[in-house]
Amino acid sequence: MINDFIYNSNKIQNIKGTCKWRSPSNIALIKYWGKKPNQIPLNTSLSITLNNCYTITEVSYQTRNKIGKNFEFFFEGKAKLSFEEKLNQFFNRIEKYCSFLSLLELKIESNNSFPHSSGIASSASSYSALSLCIMDIEKKLNPAIDDKYFFQKASFLARLGSGSACRSIIGSFSSWGQTSILDHSSDLYATRFSSKIHNIFNDLCDTVLIVDKREKEVSSTIGHQLMKGHAYSNDRLDQANSNLNKLKDALENGNYDLFIKIVELEALSLHAMMMTSLPYFILMKPNTLEIINLVWKYRKEKKSKICFTLDAGANIHLIYPENEYAKVQLFIKSDLLKFCHLGEFINDKIGNGPFKL
Ligand code: DP6
Repeated sequence: MINDFIYNSNKIQNIKGTCKWRSPSNIALIKYWGKKPNQIPLNTSLSITLNNCYTITEVSYQTRNKIGKNFEFFFEGKAKLSFEEKLNQFFNRIEKYCSFLSLLELKIESNNSFPHSSGIASSASSYSALSLCIMDIEKKLNPAIDDKYFFQKASFLARLGSGSACRSIIGSFSSWGQTSILDHSSDLYATRFSSKIHNIFNDLCDTVLIVDKREKEVSSTIGHQLMKGHAYSNDRLDQANSNLNKLKDALENGNYDLFIKIVELEALSLHAMMMTSLPYFILMKPNTLEIINLVWKYRKEKKSKICFTLDAGANIHLIYPENEYAKVQLFIKSDLLKFCHLGEFINDKIGNGPFKL
């Protein structure tokens, strides 16, 4: 219940402290695209957390002794005024659930392990790390809260910053969005993928090929809005549910070919929604398509289990089992690097959830 997450503290006199969390980014296999009011997703999404791509956030807090702005934000050591508007919106959204925040002043210092604009969802790792810090403060005020509540509410808060961020609170395979297909699923926070996962998926690698580093022409937030009144909105909902069912089956039974089919279908369906919105837009670049075609050719010729997925952008995530790592690295260097911006790519793999530092 949404009201379970409201906490009003009256014990806020003279508290002071710091907390620090590391939280991973994630990449969706079933894509969240479109939302209802209050950051409720149109469809259930499923993602994996990454290992090497994460945000570390440290929050220093103390009882507030002045009125006006109650937080300062530093990204990679520098004050970032441009992020403050978004953070203000986040704090307004979560005020009802963490009213103690208005009585504190916060210094938020955030660092990413990966380059900015690399196609890795930095809002996911940032909002999840910040939400965990906020829960640390809540726990200091209310030590009785248990781990289940701590992480559920952290995910609930992260969702109010950026939808996909709520999945970063749960390591490995995580889903968000209420569905009869997955036990314990919720629209309000992410939960661990409830089915058994075949061990062939335990060691997935994810190499991000950076095709374009420029700021996207259309943000995800705008893209989500364009699903309202979209000609294919209902069909997309049916398709996402059907894809989730199939991917669940593939993950449970170790069906790699079905996994590949659904992961790529989801990536292309996400972009098909963009291309058929009003206004329509295209975030893929010519090099994105060059790479996709080469991946298909390589998979066929080498009988590989490689596949790709896309975020809302031009960059490509190559997903493949660890036993193909060496061969895929050779393939990237010989055939794909020329389509990457300055030859840039990031090797990553499926990882665990966040942890406190
Ligand atoms: C294409 O979570 O960035 O990456 O909730 O407006 O912050 P907001 O959107 P965001 O959307 C992510 C969309 C996606 C698919 C996904 O991660 O599921």
